[in-house]
Amino acid sequence: MKKKILITGGAGYKGVLLTDALLKLNHEVTILDNFMYGYESILHLISNENLTINKTDIRNLKQSDVDGFNVVYHLAGISGMPACATNPHSAESINVDSVAKLIGFMKPEQLLINASTTSMYGFSDVICDEETIISPVSIYGKTKFISENLIQSRDNSISLRFATVFGVSPKMRNDLMVNDFTYKAIVDRSIILFAGETKRTFIHINDAIRAYIFAMDNASIMKNNIYNVGDDSMNLSKIDISNNIKQYVKFEIINSVLPDLDKRSFEISFKKINDIGFKTKYNLNDGILDLVKLYSFYVQYTPYKII
Ligand SMILES: NC(=O)c1ccc[n+]([C@@H]2O[C@H](COP(=O)([O-])OP(=O)(O)OC[C@H]3O[C@@H](n4cnc5c(N)ncnc54)[C@H](O)[C@@H]3O)[C@@H](O)[C@H]2O)c1
Repeated sequence: MKKKILITGGAGYKGVLLTDALLKLNHEVTILDNFMYGYESILHLISNENLTINKTDIRNLKQSDVDGFNVVYHLAGISGMPACATNPHSAESINVDSVAKLIGFMKPEQLLINASTTSMYGFSDVICDEETIISPVSIYGKTKFISENLIQSRDNSISLRFATVFGVSPKMRNDLMVNDFTYKAIVDRSIILFAGETKRTFIHINDAIRAYIFAMDNASIMKNNIYNVGDDSMNLSKIDISNNIKQYVKFEIINSVLPDLDKRSFEISFKKINDIGFKTKYNLNDGILDLVKLYSFYVQYTPYKII
């Protein structure tokens, strides 16, 4: 059935591919975004008659921006540890205060699917599931945790705690670990590893988009719940990531003796979402191959860095 769908942050790294996928499923999609990174990411979608653009800063959200949608995907935000550390005030007002506004405007029958993050697990030496007590170590993790709590206090909401995404999108994020390491391997011919044995968890961008759609399609069983989104096989260390890239690119790994400013290290269980039928389809190498193609192209044709 055709749905009216709002995607906040729909012009972003994940948002633009989610918009594309939902339009291909013949839904009516509205992107609400302040376009802080420009418009280029959505140019290829402009002529789609089922697409509407609402250029709005979510801090100035109005009731009319939210009315009439069956589903709201909430992706807008200051995303990632470095961006939040650089802009702590914006992180608070965009990642938290705007969420309070959004849920205040939503009607009970509107489904809310929230882009949450495994980054909030912080530092843990046990395998974390959705019941694990959360101790975020960054402003990013803290603001996402508070906003997730706000969202889950509302009925008809699903929070998807995504692993760190990797892969190519029309709006690139070169700060994400796999993307960043591949970029450095190609452009700098070296990666400096801080705390190389620390572990994170990763998901291919196509699987992240599949999970958003899976949540909408399975809302009757998933609503009012939180799910880790990824796969147990993708709990990997920085050394693992670097070694995978080494299969395709010649570069040097430099082990730094300095401590890592990013204190995150954790392993995650994805059993809860696996048990209701969501399985990832893409592996690390699928993403790295695309990234190698992209960044090799930039090295050839762009004399400056693209971050
Ligand atoms: N990429 C990941 O690895 C990852 C993992 C877990 C969770 N998430 C979450 O998923 C969401 C999307 O992440 P992404 O990687 O696509 O990030 P992104 O930075 O590429 O996209 C965020 C989008 O939000 C928009 N935005 C930012 N501030 C806004 C504001 N004040 N008003 C309106 N729009 C605004 C930006 O213009 C951008 O288009 C974020 O909430 C992020 O925390 C991302």
